[in-house]
This record gives sequence, C-alpha cells and structure tokens, in this order.
Amino acid sequence: MHKLILIGYMGVGKTTTAQLLALKLNKKWVDLDELIEKQTNLSISAIFEQKGEVYFRKLEHETFLQIIESDEQLIISTGGGTPCYANNHLLLNGVNTKSIYLKASIELIFERLNAGKTNRPLVARYSEEELKEFIAKNLFERSYFYNQATYTVNIESKSPEQLADEIIAVLQ
Ligand code: S3P
Repeated sequence: MHKLILIGYMGVGKTTTAQLLALKLNKKWVDLDELIEKQTNLSISAIFEQKGEVYFRKLEHETFLQIIESDEQLIISTGGGTPCYANNHLLLNGVNTKSIYLKASIELIFERLNAGKTNRPLVARYSEEELKEFIAKNLFERSYFYNQATYTVNIESKSPEQLADEIIAVLQ
C-alpha cells in the first residue's frame, strides 16, 4: 500500500490519527489543509472569506490530486469535505490506495466542534442549536461519500493510540 487516506467529519481527529499512524508505520504524513495553506500562503478561513467556498473546493481537488499522483508512500489527512466534492471520492480506492472513514456520532461531533469552532469557516457563525442541526443534516448528506472508504472505524470512546492500533490491525 502506497497511500492511506483518512476521511471523516470535522473534529473526528483525522490529523492527529494520521500523524500517529505515520509514526507507527514509519511513513511520511501529509495534511491536505496544511498543504493548501502552505501553497497559497493563506489560512483556510482566509481562503473561504476572500475567495469563497467554490474556489476552495477547486483548490482542494487540485491539491488532493497532486498528493495522490505523487510517487511517495504517504499517510494523508484530508479536510472534512474532501471526499464530498469534485468526485474526489473516486480516488479513495485506487491502485495501492486505501482509505479509512473515521466515524463518529452527531453528539460527539457536536461536543468537539462546539468547544472550538472559530477557525472552522463552515460552522463558526452558528449558535449551539444551529450547530447541532447543521451537523445532523450535513453528516447525513455526506455519509454517502464517507461510506466509499475502503474501511470504516468507529472513533467513539477510543484514545488516539487505540484508534491508530485498530486501523493498523484493519489494514493487515
Ligand atoms: C471542511 C473541513 C475543514 C477544512 C474546511 C472545510 C469541511 O477540515 O477543510 O474548513 O467542509 O468539512 P477539518 O475536517 O480538518 O476541520
């Protein structure tokens, strides 16, 4: 396997888990949002604000392709919306590519996003009540794409360490 892609909703721990997996598997880790920020010299929030979501989704697709097409062995953390736009979901099970959907309940996602939503442009403006409703609807719409992953792992009540070990076991 040359590429392992982690997908899932905002707040499920894609970045932390990918970093840990890279350490444990001795592979290189790349974060899609971080690469976009480096290449544009803008934060994700600034891209949303200044150029809008459609521009971001195009950039996200191009950068995702760039990572997938590289020859390197990589553990990739994506943004929460990555598999849901521009047919990116078709790239989740390519030759030498496997993907993991980090699955969580609406309640757990709400708890985590409510605690720190300011730097998340999609949810920053919502009140608690609006946030819960947005997550429920958005997760429902996105589930079709998340379910295209090679494997699904539930993150509920697991430490990052346990989660990484479970993923490694699933990949065997
Ligand atoms: C988004 C999730 C974010 C980031 C952008 C859009 C989404 O990444 O890509 O704000 O559409 O769910 P995280 O899932 O790492 O927060």
